[in-house]
Amino acid sequence: MQSDTWRKLARGLPVVLIILGAGYGCIDERIVFRDRELFNQPLDSASGFLGYYRPAEKQTTCGNCHVSFQRLWSETKHANAYADLEASGHAESFCYSCHTTNERGNLVTVAAGYHVKQDSVYFDVQCESCHGPGFAHVQAPSRENWPLATIKVDTGLTSGCGECHSGIHTPFVEQWRESAHGSGPGFNIAASRAECAPCHEGRTAIAATFGSSANYLEKSGTENQRIVCATCHNPHGSPYEHQLRASVSIPSRENLCIRCHSRTGTPTPPSFRGPHAAQGLLLLGENVGWYPPGFAYDTARIVGTHGTSANSRLCATCHVTFFEVTDKATGEFLLHSVGHTFEAIQCLDQNGLPKEGPCDLSERNFKACATSGCHGSEASARSAFTALRSRLEFLLDQLWFDTDGDREMDGTDAGLLPKLVARATTAADSNQINLNDQVLTVAEGAIWNAQLAAIESRSFWTSGRVFGRSFSAHYSAGEGVHNPFLLEALLIASINAVSKEYGLAVPAGVDLEIRATPPPGLRRVTQ
Ligand code: HEC
Ligand code: HEC
Ligand code: HEC
Ligand code: HEC
Ligand code: HEC
Ligand code: HEC
Ligand code: HEC
Ligand code: HEC
Repeated sequence: MQSDTWRKLARGLPVVLIILGAGYGCIDERIVFRDRELFNQPLDSASGFLGYYRPAEKQTTCGNCHVSFQRLWSETKHANAYADLEASGHAESFCYSCHTTNERGNLVTVAAGYHVKQDSVYFDVQCESCHGPGFAHVQAPSRENWPLATIKVDTGLTSGCGECHSGIHTPFVEQWRESAHGSGPGFNIAASRAECAPCHEGRTAIAATFGSSANYLEKSGTENQRIVCATCHNPHGSPYEHQLRASVSIPSRENLCIRCHSRTGTPTPPSFRGPHAAQGLLLLGENVGWYPPGFAYDTARIVGTHGTSANSRLCATCHVTFFEVTDKATGEFLLHSVGHTFEAIQCLDQNGLPKEGPCDLSERNFKACATSGCHGSEASARSAFTALRSRLEFLLDQLWFDTDGDREMDGTDAGLLPKLVARATTAADSNQINLNDQVLTVAEGAIWNAQLAAIESRSFWTSGRVFGRSFSAHYSAGEGVHNPFLLEALLIASINAVSKEYGLAVPAGVDLEIRATPPPGLRRVTQ
């Protein structure tokens, strides 16, 4: 009970309580006013940072009133930052700056807090690290002096999480900024549109996708925000690892990443826009793909090993990886890479530092596949990856290969679908592939599956034309890795369905057996 803390504080004092609980919508704890001041005079009186009310108990001044935040925060690593620094045995004077309460992380720009008074009152990353000094607020809390925190990260490191979570030991901001979450091209197109914002705009995602009504500086402003740190991490702590707003371990659409990476996986209704953020659906093997008539499996869910509890961190196993880089020649420490570019199999330079792609397969980092315990070694993961990619190329090419490289599905290209294009003489024929007419044909279902399985060497599936009409799609296969078995099964079934529907023969000798390991317990329908 939150009142325990309160009772401790109140013990032995004459108490007058006014409890504003239910009446105050956004704050979920009881805000309590008493007859004794709930703050000490700030040691750094110039800035007004209050810091701890009782350092020995890690009782923050803010937490005297905001009781539930105190409780949550006290469980986070921020509340132990000072002790952890000391315990490391490597503390030097410059270290304290990010492990204490001062002008870092908030809007204050002059030396303040611990930088003015090296007192235990300012140990740890407290409320005011992010909210700024609260002296004015605590004297007479009111809307005018709300110490709102910022969710910005990328302000040239003048405020926000990035003021501490940066540098070669903790380069979260630097890596995040390079990631699609920090600088992707979809932001300008999608952030301002209401139906897109829950996934594409940081503030809307906090509210709509993660259900938090909390207030902060930018909340009511008009400036759209990227998918910032506070979109994925709850600044005050959470029941999940690393203060995440949702678990990365649940294999469902409640998963942190899958909440957004799950927009469109099936062609219903059919559209010239193919799969969009289908990675999560594909990993889970649900609501994804076009199942041709007579599809050989009797289940709505075909999940590969990468999407089961055998891979306990799911997306994060491959996309959020931590490793240390030292100079090959001198052994000198170079970087602690923190996986916040969110890239899988990142490109690494000769020293092992992450670099921008594309790059040769030999320069890709397959460490996560081995350290996760899933693959015996980096080398075996790399060769499994190569084999899967060539298998997908082979199967995709049975449907269409853009022989002349013009991204148009011409009658002269290779594969079954171009044969259909070649013999189309009437509008009814060409409507077999018309992604604008709201009717889903076998050929269109096959195109959908090919788009789901598309890999970079077959990019024409994600942006091409047929009968003068264009189509587009987002990659979702992770070069096949997101669900090898299902992708193969869908492609093979599509090839057979196109062959049967349009009376087009699959060339003799084409191997249409699934090569990937089937998910345990999956049954074929006996026909
Ligand atoms: C004043 C510096 C500072 C600011 C500002 C700051 N942090 Fe931290 N943060 C730290 C330090 C130092 C640690 C490590 C503490 C420890 O482990 O002892 C940490 C730890 C964390 C952790 C815990 C990691 C884990 O393994 O559980 C998360 C998550 C985190 N910070 C996120 C954030 C977010 C999000 C923001 C902005 C809303 C933020 N931090 C602002 C300094 C800061
Ligand atoms: C630029 C800000 C900054 C500076 C300067 C800084 N740290 Fe940190 N430190 C952090 C952040 C942020 C984290 C949390 C990183 C994470 O969780 O991956 C952290 C985490 C740590 C941890 C890990 C605690 C744990 O849970 O294992 C230790 C120990 C530590 N720092 C020691 C130091 C030492 C020693 C120095 C000086 C040599 C130092 N820090 C300087 C920001 C900083
Ligand atoms: C690591 C940075 C950080 C720390 C530390 C931190 N906060 Fe916050 N706080 C934020 C951010 C960012 C928001 C807005 C986003 C959110 O809460 O999800 C916020 C929101 C709030 C709100 C507004 C809630 C609402 O419903 O509108 C209150 C009150 C608050 N914090 C109090 C505290 C108190 C008290 C502490 C210390 C016990 C604390 N915070 C520690 C960053 C922080
Ligand atoms: C004496 C009690 C008291 C203390 C101490 C206190 N607050 Fe508040 N705080 C309130 C009350 C009451 C409100 C809401 C009423 C109002 O201001 O309109 C509030 C509102 C807030 C809000 C805005 C919440 C929203 O819904 O937008 C934030 C953020 C906040 N406080 C942060 C802090 C921080 C950070 C500290 C420590 C520096 C702190 N408070 C200390 C009583 C307190
Ligand atoms: C709030 C929604 C949201 C969450 C949560 C989210 N993402 Fe994203 N992600 C996006 C959006 C939107 C983009 C595209 C951004 C753009 O291009 O502007 C994206 C892009 C990416 C990309 C780059 C894709 C490319 O084409 O290069 C990767 C990889 C990625 N996310 C992985 C993850 C992982 C892993 C997680 C979980 C740890 C995650 N995402 C959580 C919304 C989200
Ligand atoms: C798209 C979601 C997402 C965004 C945005 C994001 N993170 Fe993370 N963060 C994660 C995930 C997922 C993990 C790791 C989970 C795991 O390993 O199980 C993580 C881990 C961390 C950790 C713990 C690292 C450790 O040493 O174990 C820290 C600290 C952190 N993030 C800080 C930040 C900061 C600072 C930002 C903004 C610059 C940020 N994150 C942006 C998803 C996100
Ligand atoms: C359910 C979450 C979600 C919704 C809603 C959503 N998107 Fe996306 N979008 C994503 C994710 C996640 C990505 C990155 C992965 C991908 O491209 O498949 C993405 C990628 C994109 C990209 C590609 C960026 C690039 O890398 O080229 C564009 C453009 C885009 N979305 C536009 C939109 C538009 C416009 C809307 C609204 C009509 C919208 N999105 C609605 C989740 C969503
Ligand atoms: C077993 C490892 C693994 C897992 C698990 C995984 N991915 Fe991937 N992902 C990859 C690989 C490999 C790529 C291709 C990277 C490249 O080509 O640079 C990729 C690519 C992507 C891309 C870029 C678009 C694409 O499909 O090529 C996004 C977005 C993405 N993954 C999101 C996710 C999300 C969200 C999850 C969890 C639902 C997830 N991934 C799970 C390995 C994985």
